[in-house]
Amino acid sequence: MGIYRFTSSAHSFMDHLPLPDRASFPLLATNPELVWLDNAATTQKPRVVLDAERRFYEESNANVHRGGHRLGHAATEAYEAARKTVARFINARPEEIVFTRGATEAINLVAYSWGGSQLKAGDEVLLSTLEHHANIVPWQLVAQRTGAVIKPIPLQEDGQIDMTAFCTLLGPRTRMVAVSQMSNALGVCPPLAQLIAAARSVNALVLVDGAQGVAHQSVDVSALGADFYVFSGHKVFGPTGIGVLWGRTEILDAMPPWQGGGEMIERVSFDGTTFAPAPRRFEAGTPAFAQTVGLAAALDWLAAQDRIAIAQHETALYQQLAEGIRYLDGVRIVGTAPEKGPIASLVFGRAHPYDVAQFLDERDIAVRVGSHCAGPLMQSLGLSQGTLRVSLALYNTQSDIDRLLAALQDTLELLQ
Ligand SMILES: Cc1ncc(COP(=O)(O)O)c(C=O)c1O
Repeated sequence: MGIYRFTSSAHSFMDHLPLPDRASFPLLATNPELVWLDNAATTQKPRVVLDAERRFYEESNANVHRGGHRLGHAATEAYEAARKTVARFINARPEEIVFTRGATEAINLVAYSWGGSQLKAGDEVLLSTLEHHANIVPWQLVAQRTGAVIKPIPLQEDGQIDMTAFCTLLGPRTRMVAVSQMSNALGVCPPLAQLIAAARSVNALVLVDGAQGVAHQSVDVSALGADFYVFSGHKVFGPTGIGVLWGRTEILDAMPPWQGGGEMIERVSFDGTTFAPAPRRFEAGTPAFAQTVGLAAALDWLAAQDRIAIAQHETALYQQLAEGIRYLDGVRIVGTAPEKGPIASLVFGRAHPYDVAQFLDERDIAVRVGSHCAGPLMQSLGLSQGTLRVSLALYNTQSDIDRLLAALQDTLELLQ
């Protein structure tokens, strides 16, 4: 073992940054010993989000788009105001925002509706090898129905997308390129601008999975140039059960409904039914309206923070972690591409990631182990045991990283 000193005093690089602290997050405030490093799975919620949802239930609760009463109007207004907040947050127009249960449902919606109506036998869907299962399996399902072909885009050794291989795969049959903004398993961020420009050159559409990226980078879908962007509320300090699909109006307008029910129709009769325009065409049944209020509170709260300071803080913590790991024998970070978010996947010489995580948990340090819903990625890296993933958020501190590194050192002395 090396002799890195795990002390907070060794790092004073971000003391001046005005960041929200643990006190704003009730779960972290009531568990002062907890080191929450599983942010890629879900983030903790600031009090403003919990308050907004509680206030909605206490003061405005009614079903939306239905009530012939003032509460119903207030609830509908809150729901549609949340759509405007989401639109503002990603620089889109409200009519381009479809509420879904999460990123998974948003991708399923696109694959089922756009894919099911547009893809023909032999058409190609290009997916990076980095993708989460949520951005693989829906495409496999629609490929089975339509005869379309899934083509995986290989990675370089550092975990970045191999752009030469990508350009070779692109061709006249490519109809869709679906890629992550940030890999949930490695933190690697694909070069979206280049990928989108190349996809455009063959008239392919692009779906960007922002499930991880949205919490760490500002998003401007108007500038991005993609056709679809998806994310989940719970990974960006909002509630569970709510997510977002952004799509270009002209594409959403041409897509058929994917679920039928109340509120997605214009007129229903046994002779035939006509459908509401997007986005309501894709929001059948009672939506998660209280959660949209919580999501809007989360996005307004995040937008009011200094996002550049947050990104610097997270990068500094990642560097502190990477530096500390260098002093631990037999520990390696997988995915060393320079374009990275604050996520580190660790592998160990002899210790099993599950055993290490168990030791960390006993020290109140929460990390994730396994394949991180990225089976093809783990297969391509030859990591049958998966990895131990450390994923950071704005409320993590130098002391969190110090504690993790110290606990890893102790653990590995026992296990290796
Ligand atoms: C990159 C990525 N895409 C999609 C998802 C699916 O998100 P959800 O389970 O919230 O729908 C996740 C969840 O971990 C993810 O990390």
